[in-house]
Amino acid sequence: MLTALTRAVSSRINECELTFIERQTINVERAVRQHRNYQQLLRSLGLNVVELPADDHCPDCCFLEDTALVLDELAIATRPGSEARRAEVAGVLPTIAKYRELVHVEAPATLEAGDVLRIGRDLFIGITSRTNREGIDFVRERAAPHGYQVHAVEVPGALHLKSVCTAVNERTILADSSRVDLESFAGYELIEVPAEEWMAANVLLANGTVCMHSGFHKTLALLQERQIQVRTVDISEFLKAEAGLTCMSIIFDSAKN
Ligand code: GLY
Repeated sequence: MLTALTRAVSSRINECELTFIERQTINVERAVRQHRNYQQLLRSLGLNVVELPADDHCPDCCFLEDTALVLDELAIATRPGSEARRAEVAGVLPTIAKYRELVHVEAPATLEAGDVLRIGRDLFIGITSRTNREGIDFVRERAAPHGYQVHAVEVPGALHLKSVCTAVNERTILADSSRVDLESFAGYELIEVPAEEWMAANVLLANGTVCMHSGFHKTLALLQERQIQVRTVDISEFLKAEAGLTCMSIIFDSAKN
């Protein structure tokens, strides 16, 4: 069974880190409601949703994806490139440790799992302000013995790789190619998001269904005309925090441990 580990929204989410976008006020009550709806969507797709408590010293704590890369065989506890986010990791690891052997990224390496896009046994990892080459090398060393291929991807125009490139199935990526170098994705079909909907490139594939923000109408039409199964949820408050659907969960097969 797939488990989606989530973490409650911090009351200080308005102090979240921002890199590529301007600060706008986040309505915290609305964000909490949207977070519940997000969890409900995952439940409706058959996932077992677990919620960890918020840490109000960590404004970005609901974006727990960045704290651990959970593979089938092991989990990699990250060392976020954002120093402000490093304290988040400790609150997530005890739960991950129940399911996977843990290894820890160490300095000078940095890694945030929002930079890691897994498609089958391929791990595409963004080089960003949050993830450096040493972090990518660490993942390669630990994951290659289990049959994973690691590909470094330059991401000049976004916070994380998955901010601007995700997969809608095993053969097709959804991306804004003006913000990420797609050379490593030769062989994949590309669906290009409209420039004005660049944040729509972050979708979450859960049990074969693409989950996306309800406000990205043009991108929704592009997916539907290809008969891709899509569900939508409003995450407008989290877009203001420079986050997307993938940021708010760590999804893994809890039967494998
Ligand atoms: N607010 C998301 C991040 O900067 O990590």
